[in-house]
Amino acid sequence: NLGIINIPVNVIVVYSNADENISNAQISSQIAVLNDDFRKANNDVNEVPTEFEGLAADSEFSFTLANTYRYADSRTSWGTNNAVKSAYPPVSPETHLNIWVCNIGGGILGYAQFPGGNLATDGVVCSPQFFGTTGYVQAPFDKGRTMTHEVGHYLNLRHIWGDGRCKQDDFVSDTPSSDGPNYGCPSYPTVNCRTNDMTMNYMDYVDDACMYMFSEGQKVRMRAIFAPGGARESMLP
Ligand code: ARG
Ligand code: ZN
Ligand code: CA
Repeated sequence: NLGIINIPVNVIVVYSNADENISNAQISSQIAVLNDDFRKANNDVNEVPTEFEGLAADSEFSFTLANTYRYADSRTSWGTNNAVKSAYPPVSPETHLNIWVCNIGGGILGYAQFPGGNLATDGVVCSPQFFGTTGYVQAPFDKGRTMTHEVGHYLNLRHIWGDGRCKQDDFVSDTPSSDGPNYGCPSYPTVNCRTNDMTMNYMDYVDDACMYMFSEGQKVRMRAIFAPGGARESMLP
């Protein structure tokens, strides 16, 4: 048992205008959401339906802001092809989670790299409008959950529907199978593949206010990469 695993975070802000040069307050609001969501300290966890109550996990990860870097750049959208990472390389990716905050464009909120990939592109990217809970944020993605979702990917989680039809697994046994993402704020129960979807899971595609849990199985999968030989073992002190 590794106890609480602390992840030091570097935030790399790349901006083309004053709005995108988000405040330190906006950055700390995002770190606070990560600390709440990965410790089951989020104040909406009480909305988890009884069926899934016993599965809502304290994932036992904490996050501390290590360094903030700010770069002015005339580019106004960066896409999802890691261009921002080549322009502004990650700092100590073997021990730190690097988060680039820049306008991605194309309606994309954020994207992440799974563990085990190239260190030069390791980390997560988020558009400033969907980062944190204060400042330059835009409803309905203004509760910091884009980063909770992307850090879930960074820690090896798949989308809850497994990115395929009912039989496509997300490699987590306590998340019910589904055949596609849910959007907006679904009512409970939402039935797909003959079972109730866990629409309130951070790894679905619902609005920020409508996602509020990781499952125990997802916790086990995230923490497994910190075991000896695991893809993120090097992050442990
Ligand atoms: N990678 C997903 C996207 O950009 C993130 C979805 C996050 N969902 C949310 N409610 N914040 O579409
Ligand atoms: Zn995703
Ligand atoms: Ca599952």
